Amino acid sequence: MSAKNVPAFNGTKEQEAKLMEIINKHKGTNGALIPVLHEAQEVYGYLPIEVQTMIAEGLDVSLAEVYGVVTFYAQFSLYPKGQYRIAVCLGTACYVKGSGDILDKIKERLGIEVGECTPDGKFSIDATRCIGACGLAPVLTVNDEVYGRLTVDDVDGILDKYMN
Ligand code: FES
Repeated sequence: MSAKNVPAFNGTKEQEAKLMEIINKHKGTNGALIPVLHEAQEVYGYLPIEVQTMIAEGLDVSLAEVYGVVTFYAQFSLYPKGQYRIAVCLGTACYVKGSGDILDKIKERLGIEVGECTPDGKFSIDATRCIGACGLAPVLTVNDEVYGRLTVDDVDGILDKYMN
C-alpha cells in the first residue's frame, strides 16, 4: 500500500494524555499490546506511525513488533477514515456479481487505494466481508447508507452525491 495520501499527523495533547493513561493501565500485563492498540485507535481513529512509536516506547517493545501487529490485523488502520467511509462488499455473493470492478472504479475515480483516505479527508475506501445484504448484491455502503444491485455505471452518480 502506498503512503502517498497520508495526511500529516496532528494529534492533540489531550489525545496524548489519554494514550499515556491507556498505556499505564495495561503496562506490565500479559498481551497488553492488542488492547492498547484497540483503545489507541478509539482515541485517534487510526494508528499512524507516531502513535505506534509512543506505544512501543510506553510498553517497552520494539516499533517493529507494534507495526507487525497493526499491519497483521484488519481491524487496525494505518490511515485515517474519511468523512465519507465507502465500504465495498467483497463477500462471495457480491464478488461474483462484479463488486471487484466496482471497487476498481471507485479507486480510479478517487485516486486512492483500499485503506487510504483522499488528501482532503473526504473519502476513504474499505473492502469488507459479507454485510448480510446478499439479496442486494453487489452492495456498497457510504457511512450508514446502503447501495445495492450496483453496476460500474452507478459509481459516478453515487460519488457525485457526496462530492458537493
Ligand atoms: S456477500 Fe455482499 S452482502 Fe453478502
